[in-house]
Amino acid sequence: MNGNKKAGVYPVPKAWAERASTDAQRREAMYVASIANPDQFWGEHGKRIHWIKPYSTVKDTSFEPGKVSIRWFEDGTTNVSYNCIDRHLTERGDQVAIIWEGDDPKDVARITYRELYAQVMKWANVLRSQGIRKGDSVTLYLPMIPEAAYAMLACARIGAIHSALSSQCPPEVLASRIADAASTVVVTADQGLRGGRKLELKVNVDAALDKLPKVVKTVIVVKRTGAPVGMLKGRDHYYDDLAETVPDQCPPEEMKAEDPLFVLFTSGSTSKPKAVVHTTGGYLVYAAMTHQYVFDYHDGDIHWCTAEISWITGHSYIVYGPLANGATTLIFEGIPTYPSASRYWDVIDKHKVSLFYTAPTAIRSLMGRGEDAVKSNSLASLRLLGSVGEPIDPKSWEWYHRVVGGGRCPIVDTWFQTETGGILITPLPGATDLKPGSAGSPFFGVKPELVDEAGDVLDGVAHGNLVIADSWPGQMRTLYRDHERFEQEYFSRYPGKYFTGDGARRDADGYYSITGRVDDVINVSGHRIGTAELESALVAHASVSEAAVVGYPHEIKGQDIYAYVVLIDGETASDELRNELVSWIRRAIGPIFTIDKVQFAVGLPKTNSGKIIRHILRKIAEDKCTEFGDTSTLSNPAVVDHLIDNRLNRK
Ligand code: WT7
Repeated sequence: MNGNKKAGVYPVPKAWAERASTDAQRREAMYVASIANPDQFWGEHGKRIHWIKPYSTVKDTSFEPGKVSIRWFEDGTTNVSYNCIDRHLTERGDQVAIIWEGDDPKDVARITYRELYAQVMKWANVLRSQGIRKGDSVTLYLPMIPEAAYAMLACARIGAIHSALSSQCPPEVLASRIADAASTVVVTADQGLRGGRKLELKVNVDAALDKLPKVVKTVIVVKRTGAPVGMLKGRDHYYDDLAETVPDQCPPEEMKAEDPLFVLFTSGSTSKPKAVVHTTGGYLVYAAMTHQYVFDYHDGDIHWCTAEISWITGHSYIVYGPLANGATTLIFEGIPTYPSASRYWDVIDKHKVSLFYTAPTAIRSLMGRGEDAVKSNSLASLRLLGSVGEPIDPKSWEWYHRVVGGGRCPIVDTWFQTETGGILITPLPGATDLKPGSAGSPFFGVKPELVDEAGDVLDGVAHGNLVIADSWPGQMRTLYRDHERFEQEYFSRYPGKYFTGDGARRDADGYYSITGRVDDVINVSGHRIGTAELESALVAHASVSEAAVVGYPHEIKGQDIYAYVVLIDGETASDELRNELVSWIRRAIGPIFTIDKVQFAVGLPKTNSGKIIRHILRKIAEDKCTEFGDTSTLSNPAVVDHLIDNRLNRK
């Protein structure tokens, strides 16, 4: 670092400026051009993927109330699996496409592009043999194994829409999402392995399908551990058996740019999860282009994104972006602390990872284990580090930079959402100076604005709600079979703009720092959950009459969950009941959302009209009981005194 750098700013190292895909000046020129003339800019960059029939139109989008419509490259046709595989075969058929590192460090596989090609065609024919055609949906409930990528790419090859669910998803959630996506085929594994523990995937599928007797016709089971599992005759088939009966070759379907590629579920401020739809052409262009520029991807890089493949980060930056660019991508089945706290660093040295992309919650927890766990590895292969999922605090950023990156690797703090398809706000390594705690500036073609509650645009240095004023190719197109809700959720609060649900600060250099959700959504370790979703699951318990859930700051997880529960008459509060409610939520929503604090309450603070006053509950959860602000509308002060007396986060 040079001596006269601005405090807290890491300037672009010289070597990086020379090598990166773009430098500061070119970045600025490209950004200006992308905003001034999106048709020309994306018309040019859309060519980075192969089109069967080239597009003649580029951007056809409207955020206008009642008429929200997002179309990119509309008359072009292409195939995503062709772009991620076939296109690379002549030049990189023998290059490794996927490195797989199993939960057990001894389990490793390297899959070349040619092998990937053969696998994906087999998978495509297996799906077809079960009646899957263009436009049908397939639910994927798989662990982090190469088959997860094969199945996704096979769907893309034949034009089926995949809906991937986390392998930690409990049967209740599984059932409702299979039904919401209207999948007739579910792909799963006998079991999964995670941190030495088994995940009972097939057992969970059986439990889910008990609730949906007629919807699912076929369950395809990958043998991961080989454990015997129940197989329902006529419905359940081992993948290996089906694969024996189908042809090896499967030409890619010609897909329209706006044909759906996948659905992903995410939480919002209502109790019903949203099924976000991404389409083919624009999504792939955006995933590939951000992967190249944000990670400064070059031939020969080994790219490792630690996210689950079933999240948007995994879709865009384990599978589609890297493979569209002909990269080598690493899929890791395990967890950062198994068999020891140096696992991530072991994997980096073992596979010579050069681009490493993880979440602040993992960084914070590994930071807590001390530097020695890192220093037993050289980490010399690393060139760049990334962070995603929640704000990264400057202390963790500095640690990541110094201890993991050896002070030489830029960190890209990338902001995006399931809905945005790819990264929207980020530093560009080699082009932008880095500021710990800031996600930097908008990517090409992205027009962020900060607005106040009334929707007035704030200029210059400001703190407000983050909206995006115009479309970019990776944007979601709709909510599955519910365009009305799509408009309502994202385009009604600030008409004519996409509302992200996040708050942000902008500094004098135009850098954005995301300050967290402004709606009733909690972010636990980078996973979004709506408070309404948790509350409706709590009141579904026979002993509960009312519940309110808030987030409060947590050192490792970013935020944790605090629930206020009012019991029905005649029920008494007890530790058993508290534990039961915690496991009830784990079963209903998933173990990621384990409630940390359950406070039994005699009532909830309400206005005269009966609305829960949430800001009071948030302050009590934070142990800041003298900072309630406006309480003039509170109708039941005695309830608040009781809540304060019994608060659980006393310092
Ligand atoms: C929400 C999106 C994006 C992939 C993983 C989560 C928060 C995401 C950052 C960041 C601050 C971030 C936002 C966003 N978020 N990245 N770099 N800095 N906050 O996807 O489940 O759709 O959640 O995660 O609040 O809205 P998701």
